[in-house]
Amino acid sequence: MVNESHPDIERILISEDELRNRVSELGAAITRDYAGKAEGLVVVSVLRGAAIFMADLVRAIELPLEMDFLAISSYGSGTVSSGTISMKKDISSDIADKHVIIAEDIIDSGLSLTYTIKHLLSFSPASLQVAALLYKQREDSPSFDVRYKGFDVPDEFVVGYGLDYAERYRNLPYIGILKPQVYGGESRG
Ligand code: IMP
Ligand code: MG
Repeated sequence: MVNESHPDIERILISEDELRNRVSELGAAITRDYAGKAEGLVVVSVLRGAAIFMADLVRAIELPLEMDFLAISSYGSGTVSSGTISMKKDISSDIADKHVIIAEDIIDSGLSLTYTIKHLLSFSPASLQVAALLYKQREDSPSFDVRYKGFDVPDEFVVGYGLDYAERYRNLPYIGILKPQVYGGESRG
């Protein structure tokens, strides 16, 4: 599994090693930035895509923290956002007056993150920052203040390390570009 990629993958964009190193760096940065803060730290992951990033990120943060999860849906099983977001599962802890970091897998249109930020701000956290593993570089990329960003990626459909196409490929240990024929689309590159 180390050198060989899945047959549906056109090419590996970010290897396991690169992911591990970058996530460690993000965890170290968070550890530095939040050390000594009196209010508690809560890392909120957006299910399901960010689950694997979250699992690795929190283990790279050397501070007491809580984990919480919310689930929203916008994509259905396609590769283009439907534009309509619905809440599937809300967080279950009280984040009022806590420092909250959203762990997101990828920012594409930005609709999911906009929705998530607005929702979490309604609980009056002490602060709210974003940790996004991937930021897709589109012509119309939304601009967010992403304090902890893993990698910029080209405007292609990527899978692996939590990201899916039709619920598949989440368990690939790297980030790869899916062959367009797998989703019946033309290459967007
Ligand atoms: P946005 O709302 O368009 O920014 O999309 C964010 C969500 O869509 C992410 O949390 C992913 O779950 C999903 N998504 C966006 N781009 C991709 C991709 O290239 N591969 C897999 N999932 C994606
Ligand atoms: Mg998804």
